[in-house]
Amino acid sequence: MKKTIAVIGSSRRNGNTGKLLDFISRELDIEVVDLATKNISPFDYEHKNIDDDFLPLMDHLLKHENIIFASPVYWFAMSAQMKIFIDRMSDFLSVEELKDKGRELRNKVGYVVSTSISEEVDSSFLNSFIDTFEYLGIKYGGFVHLNCQNGFDITEAEKDINSLVTKVNLANNVQVI
Ligand SMILES: Cc1cc2nc3c(=O)[nH]c(=O)nc-3n(C[C@H](O)[C@H](O)[C@H](O)COP(=O)(O)O)c2cc1C
Repeated sequence: MKKTIAVIGSSRRNGNTGKLLDFISRELDIEVVDLATKNISPFDYEHKNIDDDFLPLMDHLLKHENIIFASPVYWFAMSAQMKIFIDRMSDFLSVEELKDKGRELRNKVGYVVSTSISEEVDSSFLNSFIDTFEYLGIKYGGFVHLNCQNGFDITEAEKDINSLVTKVNLANNVQVI
């Protein structure tokens, strides 16, 4: 079992974010889970959706140490697909029987991969991940952002990609005691 896995939430699997993540995941030789293939509904205070694909997906993700979250910037924020997924983390806080599983997120390492048509990733976008990681006890490992304003050109983020790949590879080789 690999120590790293990626999850993508975009309105198109093979768009800019998908292509960027595919490049990174090929370098790391890791699995990519597309949220579009999962039936995950928005947070429900009554948890009537507890049997959808959220918990099985989390069981799978929790078998890994590093989790890459990939999303395009849509209106200064993460995609709706990713937001619905992140909102469901609240199941771990509000369902008594799931609290222990939620605690398994502690000490996982979270990375962010994004694309937009802006040079810099919006702080509102990135901070929503970083703050969520912190709240859940996930360590923040870093991010890669690719500006696709002039089309998809991976070389624009080459340095950041290499540094994230190196970081994750190093993390993969560290023995967990
Ligand atoms: C609904 C929507 C909202 C967007 N909002 C922003 C934005 O706030 N800032 C930005 O720089 N680009 C924005 N964009 C551009 C996308 O971030 C950019 O094209 C991205 O690479 C698309 O990734 P995708 O192919 O995975 O969807 C938006 C695009 C869409 C479709």
